[in-house]
Amino acid sequence: MMSKLYEQIYKRKSVRKYSDRTLDNETKKKIDSAISTLKLFNGKECTLKFKIQTYKEFVNDKKLNFITKKMVIKSPYYISILRNKTEDAYINAGYCGEELVLRLKEIGLDTCWVGAAKVFDRGQDYIIGIAFGYSDTYIDVNRRRLNIEDYYEGDTDLIDIVKALREAPSAKNSQPARLKFKDKKIVLYNNNKNNRILKDLNVIDMGIALRHLTLALEENNLNYKVKKEAEEFIIEVFNESE
Ligand SMILES: Cc1cc2nc3c(=O)[nH]c(=O)nc-3n(C[C@H](O)[C@H](O)[C@H](O)COP(=O)(O)O)c2cc1C
Repeated sequence: MMSKLYEQIYKRKSVRKYSDRTLDNETKKKIDSAISTLKLFNGKECTLKFKIQTYKEFVNDKKLNFITKKMVIKSPYYISILRNKTEDAYINAGYCGEELVLRLKEIGLDTCWVGAAKVFDRGQDYIIGIAFGYSDTYIDVNRRRLNIEDYYEGDTDLIDIVKALREAPSAKNSQPARLKFKDKKIVLYNNNKNNRILKDLNVIDMGIALRHLTLALEENNLNYKVKKEAEEFIIEVFNESE
């Protein structure tokens, strides 16, 4: 049986239309508890800050003007991810943020990453926002994605990992994450490095893809170690007993 969190990879979809239903105290507690258990990709405690605000607070915080307000999704709540001296802050924003997205989905809340809110000065620590709340639309999980073969090279019996990676959300659906399978190693790299417009957002996308990948490894009872080498991630995989 699939774990509850892993299942959410296949249920999540970016939602852009929300009801105005508010969060009750029990739900707020669940969100705080989800945030407190997040880990960085190197296994250390997550030092990023997740600031939760209502839509009004979010757009009024740095005074978004009329045009910029139109670019952000109108959801009852927003999470701002703040770097707070975290190493590899953009990768980890994706990595920890996506786990939070999946945990929110687990408790019935939908989300949408909002890169558009980055264009305006929201303070030095600000990395990205996530719109969230209760969906007001039918969620069709059919996705616009490349074919499964387009995401990897090499032979693998870990096709579940490629499938989980394929489900990952990405800025403008650019799907930059690719895999190379080699012996017991997986190399994760950015296939969209030359895109200057999506540059920072694609780094967040890589962190998101990495979390989908490691969740798939965990689901298959595999241990792993993630190393960052230059712009690539080398994931060493071993069985529980090794
Ligand atoms: C880093 C990042 C930034 C994004 N920024 C926006 C945005 O500003 N506005 C928006 O409507 N969707 C945004 N999205 C959502 C993507 O468009 C969406 O993930 C992609 O189209 C795939 O669809 P899916 O998430 O429903 O699978 C963003 C996604 C990511 C990962």
